[in-house]
Amino acid sequence: MKRDPKIVFGEWVELGRDEGMATGHQSSVNHMLSLALKGRREFSFIDAGCGNGWVVRQVAEHPDCVSVAGVDAAQQMIEKAKACDSKNHYVCADLERWSPNSSVDVVHSMEVVYYLNNPARFFQNVYKLWLRKNGMLIVGLDFYLENKASHSWPDDCGISIMRLFSENEWVNIFANAGFSNVTSYRFGAKKGWEGTLIISGNKLA
Ligand SMILES: C[S@@+](CC[C@H](N)C(=O)[O-])C[C@H]1O[C@@H](n2cnc3c(N)ncnc32)[C@H](O)[C@@H]1O
Repeated sequence: MKRDPKIVFGEWVELGRDEGMATGHQSSVNHMLSLALKGRREFSFIDAGCGNGWVVRQVAEHPDCVSVAGVDAAQQMIEKAKACDSKNHYVCADLERWSPNSSVDVVHSMEVVYYLNNPARFFQNVYKLWLRKNGMLIVGLDFYLENKASHSWPDDCGISIMRLFSENEWVNIFANAGFSNVTSYRFGAKKGWEGTLIISGNKLA
């Protein structure tokens, strides 16, 4: 039987598998951060689906970072994040029901948005409620239609919600949510692996 992502990922913390995700996603995330933070001064940042908080802690080291927070629905992920970092802000919440008290400059999300019931509505909320003017949403995805090596993951991981969209479909979801300058890019492609699909868009007004 397939189960809710937050239950499965909560168990992954107990098995230590959250650490493997951090290692596996590091190079794609470094690339995403270099795109999202280029030229930013005094920025605020949210990692949506932060897992154990490793990206929050990495971004907090940036000299121009004013505030950084992580949000994740798996309780064990947030407990672990808080246990190793009392300085930054972590929230245990469902991304589809939560929004920040004040808007931020960058919303980053690595390997998360395809677990949502309604990614289109989430992007609309990020555009309207999470981001400031000139803010950016940037997401990284390894599970997408063109990356055939990822298609077995719903069965391999026993996760109930995993939305399989093509690169063009993700780009259209961004554009329809109101984002400008929507760009998509595959990072780290090699034989049998199409790479991390990185999509970003700006809130201009
Ligand atoms: C593949 S992990 C990636 C974690 C982290 N971004 C990283 O790169 O290590 C997916 C994460 O998304 C979280 N997640 C899935 N659905 C969610 C939802 N609806 N609201 C909040 N978090 C969610 C899971 O709990 C899990 O920590």
